[in-house]
Amino acid sequence: MAAKCGRCNGIGVFYDPQVQQGRYGQVRLCACVQQHCQCRGEPPYQFWGADSRREWCPCRRYRQRLTQTGVLFRQAEVPERYRWRFLDDFHRVAPDGAAIAHADRVLVEAAGLVGEARCPVRGVLLHGPPGTGKTLLGCIMLNELLLRWCRAGRFLNLSRRYFERLRDTYSQDSAHYGQTWPIIEELTQLPFLLLDDFGTQRGTEWEMEMLYNLVDARYAEQRLTLVTTNQPLDAIRELYGGRIYSRLVEMCRLVEMQGIDYRQHLTP
Ligand SMILES: Nc1ncnc2c1ncn2[C@@H]1O[C@H](COP(=O)(O)OP(=O)(O)OP(=O)(O)O)[C@@H](O)[C@H]1O
Ligand SMILES: [Mg+2]
Ligand SMILES: [Zn+2]
Ligand SMILES: [Zn+2]
Repeated sequence: MAAKCGRCNGIGVFYDPQVQQGRYGQVRLCACVQQHCQCRGEPPYQFWGADSRREWCPCRRYRQRLTQTGVLFRQAEVPERYRWRFLDDFHRVAPDGAAIAHADRVLVEAAGLVGEARCPVRGVLLHGPPGTGKTLLGCIMLNELLLRWCRAGRFLNLSRRYFERLRDTYSQDSAHYGQTWPIIEELTQLPFLLLDDFGTQRGTEWEMEMLYNLVDARYAEQRLTLVTTNQPLDAIRELYGGRIYSRLVEMCRLVEMQGIDYRQHLTP
């Protein structure tokens, strides 16, 4: 039923940007599914078949997908500013009319990744100066992947807080004592992970080791990893004796975001 639908591309659910309550739209069941529904959308999604037997409604698996998608989006922890952003939200012109020269090129990269026929394993590393939309585009790709593949993903800002949480696992007083590996293991198993602001923290050797462990584990498991950084690639190359960078370039296509600082072009 949904296979040829242009609105949902066959997945039965789509993001409707129409604002209903509050500030955002929502992920909804597509009309192409609704049209074949015989259960009126009532759990357990069954209807009376021809020979008076209860049958599963064709809408059932799409409604389950809808619920699951909602859960995945909540668990992804994408920050408010970048939540519910999709490819159409990456603009080619800033609010003050300034052209965003790199928009076409980077959108081709992003659309290529999220449109792959099989679930992609190679991610993208977005690099360039502040305000060029790296975090936005990274989140857009993550959101598109969550919606399209209905698999788990996470936004992870490599801030102080992340390392503090890890270091906390070494303290006997902490509720997370001894959890270092479970934390890294959980992040390793996620089908999609966005590492935001990579390499900004010229961390301690221990922090670099933890970062290396995460990257190396995802590398070994061939999990899709998205990275954003506003550091020059040379600086990334120097981290941890080049062992992190070496893996990242194999795991990711390098995409340069070299354009205007959008933050300085907000008002007309
Ligand atoms: N092409 C674009 N279309 C719409 N909004 C954009 C675009 N580029 C940037 N923005 C907006 O501009 C702001 C800065 O973008 P973002 O946070 O992605 O920058 P960044 O490259 O990650 O910067 P930093 O290196 O400082 O982290 C955000 O509010 C983002 O939504
Ligand atoms: Mg950013
Ligand atoms: Zn549809
Ligand atoms: Zn139904």
